[in-house]
Amino acid sequence: MMKQNLQIDQIIHGECVEVLNSLPEKSIDLIFADPPYNLQLQNTLWRPNMTQVDAVNDQWDQFDSFKTYDIFSQNWLQACQRVLKDTGTLWVIGSYHNIFRIGKIMQDLGFWILNDVVWIKTNPMPNFRGVRLTNAHETMIWASKSKGSKYTFNHHAMKGFNEGKQLRSDWVIPRELVLPICSGSERIKTNGEKAHSTQKPEALLLRVIISSSQKGDIVLDPFFGTGTTGAVAKQLHRHWIGIEQKKKYILIAQERIDNIEPIVPEPLIEDIFDVSDKNRLAPRVGFANLIEVNFLTPGQKLYFQKNPVNEAYIKPDGNLRLPDGFEGSIHQAGKHLMNGSPCNGWQNWYFESPDNELVVINELREKYRKKFIYENKT
Ligand SMILES: C[S@@+](CC[C@H](N)C(=O)[O-])C[C@H]1O[C@@H](n2cnc3c(N)ncnc32)[C@H](O)[C@@H]1O
Repeated sequence: MMKQNLQIDQIIHGECVEVLNSLPEKSIDLIFADPPYNLQLQNTLWRPNMTQVDAVNDQWDQFDSFKTYDIFSQNWLQACQRVLKDTGTLWVIGSYHNIFRIGKIMQDLGFWILNDVVWIKTNPMPNFRGVRLTNAHETMIWASKSKGSKYTFNHHAMKGFNEGKQLRSDWVIPRELVLPICSGSERIKTNGEKAHSTQKPEALLLRVIISSSQKGDIVLDPFFGTGTTGAVAKQLHRHWIGIEQKKKYILIAQERIDNIEPIVPEPLIEDIFDVSDKNRLAPRVGFANLIEVNFLTPGQKLYFQKNPVNEAYIKPDGNLRLPDGFEGSIHQAGKHLMNGSPCNGWQNWYFESPDNELVVINELREKYRKKFIYENKT
């Protein structure tokens, strides 16, 4: 395949390694891959009531040996690594059949594993023969391109999925979301049959894309199937590229994505779909900078968590001194008062304003940015 310019918001028909190799190097922000699982199903599966289990026995999932599967995996992973920007990340979903092999190959290629996320299914298919445990989850590996690379992670945005607390790596997402038994299901059907055996829930992609991309980024899926990745990326105002070898799935995916209309007026899109961690991206301000510009004075008192009893003196170098003699940064002093638990000092120390109000010091940091950083840039 000829080298091509990046054609965004399109499905490219073809074998993913060939297509990936034709794309420009370091051009993609995020890749989500749902590769063949190599389920190795030899025989038809039957339920105890002698109905047939609708299992994955597609030709695209067949490999004649682990070795063939490993070579295939190494080729597409390597091709993904080439097109990923240095700041990009890769998510791969799989089951016990393939995910360990894929994880090993990823590490060998130099990907740096950030998390393995377990997608817990609330209504998994039982093990009908009763010879094993019910297999109730799939695993996603999330990795940066290499060790130490800076990557996108919208840490604060993800708290929205866990009542304001840091999101954990076990995600409970009902499998019913893509099962035909559920009314209002998103499962796509053709002539009453499911159109694709392994269509993923949009809820899963929602988390993946929000966590690790910004508005306007390019999200690529090399095993596009029914286009779940593209559908969610489009809803979230990310650009997308899908690669799929089967024309019948391309038609389904294209129709699905074409039917998504933007629901937010253009001028508001930036505000609504930007979930980046503003504080993380904001210019850094040291606590001592606030003393330099007379927002605070050496010797002034701060109060921990607004409690007048928990006071500390500000030292000229920006450290705090506690009544028990402990000295350290605003974060270390907070940690000391919280018996070793991590503490963001900016959010926990208060100063007394001229109106005798206790005000969190983070407000002074914002004031500093506005006065000395942002204004100087205009
Ligand atoms: C596990 S399914 C992905 C399903 C998708 N995540 C969805 O929600 O619909 C894998 C897809 O990859 C496609 N595929 C398999 N091998 C491929 C290859 N070498 N190049 C391109 N597509 C391939 C298959 O046709 C299948 O549609």
